[in-house]
Amino acid sequence: MEVIQYKAEMHEYSLGQRGEGKSIGLVPTMGALHGGHFSLIRRAREECDTVVVSIFVNPTQFAPGEDIDRYPRTLEADRLACEKLGVDALFVPPGDEVYPPGAETYVVQERLAGVLEGASRPAHFRGVLTVVLKLLNIVAPHVAYFGQKDYQQTVVTRRMVADLDVPVEVRVLPTVREPDGLAMSTRNQYLSPIEREQAVCLHESLQLCRELFAAGERGAGKLKEAMHARIAREPAAGIDYVEIAKPDDLRPADPVEPGDVALAAVRIGDTRLIDNMILG
Ligand code: PAJ
Repeated sequence: MEVIQYKAEMHEYSLGQRGEGKSIGLVPTMGALHGGHFSLIRRAREECDTVVVSIFVNPTQFAPGEDIDRYPRTLEADRLACEKLGVDALFVPPGDEVYPPGAETYVVQERLAGVLEGASRPAHFRGVLTVVLKLLNIVAPHVAYFGQKDYQQTVVTRRMVADLDVPVEVRVLPTVREPDGLAMSTRNQYLSPIEREQAVCLHESLQLCRELFAAGERGAGKLKEAMHARIAREPAAGIDYVEIAKPDDLRPADPVEPGDVALAAVRIGDTRLIDNMILG
């Protein structure tokens, strides 16, 4: 496995692979790799000739006061895991390699990036889309892999790729969960044992929503109320938002139809967790 730090070297590597007629799959990550990341890497390994994983804790998608300083960095374990999974190249650029001094151009999306996560974290998707576009330009993959866990991230990314004619296929894979249903996330490790127990309310509220929908409930208000009530049972849980939205443009869905998405963001103590479920 090649470990590459510099953009020019990464790009040259990819052009070389393309020159040999190989298909390239990119899995962009911020490291501290877990089962969710591994499922993306495994799928890329099955579908592409050359698999590139990027690890970069992207400062522009964290607001001041968010968790960038305590965000776990486990590069050596990540490197070994990637090697084991048959990754061909690991791209681990230093910060000023990605954003050289003087950088001032960003990808800003109008409406989509301002709802849900974007309402709570105003500059978040500007940072995500900017770094994703940069990674797509640097690595030039044929396919880029994302997890459904970050549902809105997949929607804004697809929108950017369509709007800016980026020549890449975006593939979205199902959320990988712990045995009790909690979506795997780097941030789960911030939870105390008691918070960890209570964190299951996020998944359970989505399950409840899905069950009520399956039983015939179509009113968004009723479904959201039930989710609120389930989450509110946990003393450590505070709701940031609970919403049911159309899958492609994230506009509120009411009445709710099969294919609509229930999304929630919950604070468990100091840790903010998100999850979602497609209904029907
Ligand atoms: P990160 O949180 O490291 O996630 C990298 C990829 O793994 C994302 O596509 C995310 O949706 C996916 N993922 C995380 N947990 C998952 C789970 N439990 N099941 C399935 N997939 C999961 O998302 C980012 O990094 C960044 O925003 C990034 C796209 C790299 C841009 O900086």
